[in-house]
Amino acid sequence: MKGGSFILTLFSNIVLVLCQSDNVAFTLGQTNHLYLSHGEQLTYNKVVTNLSAHFDSAGSFVCRKPGLFAFHFFSLAHTQSKIWIELYKNTNYVCSIYGYTSHGFADAGNSVMIHLNENDSISIKSHASTNTTLFGTADEIYTTFTGVLLKPDTAEYAYKKVTFSVGLDHHFHATNGETVMYNDIILNSNAYNPLTGRFTAPLDGTYIFHYHGLAQNNQLIWLELYHNGDYVNAAYGHTVSGFADAGNTAILHLHAGDQVYVKARNGRVVDVFGTPNEVYTTFSGTLLAPLTHDSDDSQSEMSFSVGLSRHFSGMTLIFDRVFSNRGGRYNPSTGHFTAKESGVYVFHFHALSRSDAKVWADLYHNYHYIDSLYGRSNGEFAAGSNAAVIDLVAGDTVFLKSRQSTNSYFGTPDEVYCTFSGYKLDTFKEELVIGNPEEIIG
Ligand SMILES: *[C@@H]1O[C@H](CO)[C@@H](O)[C@H](O)[C@H]1NC(C)=O
Ligand SMILES: *[C@@H]1O[C@H](CO)[C@@H](O)[C@H](O)[C@H]1NC(C)=O
Ligand SMILES: *[C@@H]1O[C@H](CO)[C@@H](O)[C@H](O)[C@H]1NC(C)=O
Repeated sequence: MKGGSFILTLFSNIVLVLCQSDNVAFTLGQTNHLYLSHGEQLTYNKVVTNLSAHFDSAGSFVCRKPGLFAFHFFSLAHTQSKIWIELYKNTNYVCSIYGYTSHGFADAGNSVMIHLNENDSISIKSHASTNTTLFGTADEIYTTFTGVLLKPDTAEYAYKKVTFSVGLDHHFHATNGETVMYNDIILNSNAYNPLTGRFTAPLDGTYIFHYHGLAQNNQLIWLELYHNGDYVNAAYGHTVSGFADAGNTAILHLHAGDQVYVKARNGRVVDVFGTPNEVYTTFSGTLLAPLTHDSDDSQSEMSFSVGLSRHFSGMTLIFDRVFSNRGGRYNPSTGHFTAKESGVYVFHFHALSRSDAKVWADLYHNYHYIDSLYGRSNGEFAAGSNAAVIDLVAGDTVFLKSRQSTNSYFGTPDEVYCTFSGYKLDTFKEELVIGNPEEIIG
């Protein structure tokens, strides 16, 4: 006992704290051509990243830590096949993706932010009226399912929970740059106004936004993200005799009162698909971190979001337009993002091909392949997207590389479709104070 008290005296100024990370994040992929019959649940055979994510025997994600989650799902249809996939929370339909082209591989994806209680589950299923073959091989992973716990219910500050996720449950027709009025409110904590179609930032900070949509048959989808009156980026799609899917992402620094919204391209006839049980067209956003004026605060150095404002061909994608780059960890001369700190990061990437060309980009973690996007369409511009959670060690790099040097990415100063964004997930810690030596001695 004497020895014990000696040790306690020696360390009498130290409060022993054990930290247990509360992160829940995963990306699963499919490395085989997967045939799905009517209403069958998608299964994923490759664990890209798994941090404390639980799945049931059917492959549904099961929530163990209640909170706000983001889910992202992407796929690529095999030739002559169509993707028609739905995301369910328990037995309730939430949103869908659809893709078909008569002469190629169709890409589609969607994102949603949703609150889950303990034991709520999220599953991805094929639509009941269709069968489909999804494209996949070990080095061509397009079919992915990503989930991230954004804010556990136990998170300390209510203001961290600023999040919205909305969809369109009716067709939207625009001729004059109208704002999309999303009316299917999946989640809205104090952020999105369905009467104006606009999100208003309640406080200064770094926010992420995702938007996706599906064009009507043979029609155009051309949606643009605006920050106050300024153009940020766009999603474009048109498929002859088909429905075109497109989406995009941006991470922006906003001031309190700033507005972010999605509108149709001015002067173009845009026809977007939506019905109550076919929600392809969505808009979601969340506060990643409140602004801190302390440059030592790691929270202020955790994200980047960049795009192409000029056409690009070549191997490593080098994005020239910087929407945000806190801490300068994205290098605009190499195209590489380098993690300043170890942690869990989430990446999103989107591309549009030049007319009659192909986009085919792979996400790399150092020199390890993660997953891909693909778009090709005869005589058209083709879109592709994907996402991944990656557990990084400080100094690791993440970048996008073309599969072929002939891949041709579209970009002009007011048409930015090709983007690459990433952020470090907040680390929520349960601090277990084991003991205060002073008190023990006393
Ligand atoms: C993911 O990790 C959890 C433990 O953190 C484990 O229980 C689960 O089986 C893993 N799931 C997969 C698909 O690897
Ligand atoms: C969640 O499921 C587990 C295992 O099935 C069960 O032990 C637990 O009580 C459930 N929790 C709630 C809140 O239903
Ligand atoms: C897929 O469904 C279509 C019609 O829905 C049917 O004609 C076709 O035979 C099915 N294919 C398979 C392999 O089941």
